[in-house]
Amino acid sequence: MNFALVLLLTSSCFTWSTAVYLPSTADPKKLKYLLEPPVYPEVVGPRGGNVTLPCLLISKPNNYKVKWTKLEPEHVGPENIIMMSNANDFKSYGRLGPRACLRKAHAMDASLQLSFLELEDGGTYRCELINGIEDENVEITLRIEGVVFPYQSKNGRYRFTFHEAKAACAEQDGTLASYKQIYRAWTDGLDWCNAGWLRDGTVVYPIIHPRAACGGGSLPGIRSYGPKDKNQDQFDAFCFTSKTSGTVSYISGSFSFRQADHACSRQGSQLALVGHLYAAWHFLQFDRCDGGWLRDGSVRFPISFPRERCGGAAEAGVRSFGFPNKSMHLYGAYCYR
Ligand SMILES: *[C@@H]1O[C@H](CO)[C@@H](O)[C@H](O)[C@H]1NC(C)=O
Ligand SMILES: *[C@@H]1O[C@H](CO)[C@@H](O)[C@H](O)[C@H]1NC(C)=O
Repeated sequence: MNFALVLLLTSSCFTWSTAVYLPSTADPKKLKYLLEPPVYPEVVGPRGGNVTLPCLLISKPNNYKVKWTKLEPEHVGPENIIMMSNANDFKSYGRLGPRACLRKAHAMDASLQLSFLELEDGGTYRCELINGIEDENVEITLRIEGVVFPYQSKNGRYRFTFHEAKAACAEQDGTLASYKQIYRAWTDGLDWCNAGWLRDGTVVYPIIHPRAACGGGSLPGIRSYGPKDKNQDQFDAFCFTSKTSGTVSYISGSFSFRQADHACSRQGSQLALVGHLYAAWHFLQFDRCDGGWLRDGSVRFPISFPRERCGGAAEAGVRSFGFPNKSMHLYGAYCYR
């Protein structure tokens, strides 16, 4: 443990509505101090939201501390402590510390509150009771509510190293997706024939309808190439994004890329990022049957209510015309403010 990481002393704690959860039924290893986490120990919140990760004591030893950490399987490194507390006080640490505090709703409450959630906050958290003799811990998963989108370079298919894929997602207001995130997107219907990087350095593609053109096979699933060389191998990217604080709007017209950019500027906004359009589509059912320029030079349109005349496909989705010649006067503009 490295207590040199101390960043600040949290002085105040805010209150907000708490997660609803049920006590678990069957538990193999009996806990003495901590309440077993719920049957589905998962708490969900969008980017920008607030959540409470529940951890309750059922019995108090004489002398104890509670430690909250975030488990980071993808980064081997020092333990990622968020919060240390004793009966009277708590201290927060690290990247999450400034946005973390203990709820302390009552004497047995050691629940952690996180505010202004960020994309990277998703993962497994551990609440540990330390009394020197019989330490105990429970684990809770925080899932950031959001949407996965495939992203391809404007130079064509399979042009990103791992590091470039990571940067490309960040440029579109996202992060590289985790395996859990793409798994969930696949269960929601993501079927994509191009392989892309995930955050853990593996390369996968999600298939709902197996077909010869997409590697064959007879069962739907996430096809994986396993870990690839992060500096040498090149693929597309699977990005993850969540709610945004701004809004996306469409300006109709027959613009070149530059004209579209100006059209957005005139209303005090900017061309939207790909992540912005996906977030509007996912969270607000944004639906527009017109191709529009985005800031990366691609042309796309969001369909929430599939219909014959709007691209034909039976599934909802954000459709892409790729990266057309920027001087073509054919499309409207998707702006973000
Ligand atoms: C989250 O908590 C912060 C700090 O208490 C508060 O300012 C903010 O409005 C809350 N956000 C939401 C979405 O409830
Ligand atoms: C885009 O179109 C313009 C006008 O038709 C043409 O002059 C230019 O070469 C094209 N650019 C590319 C990259 O194809």
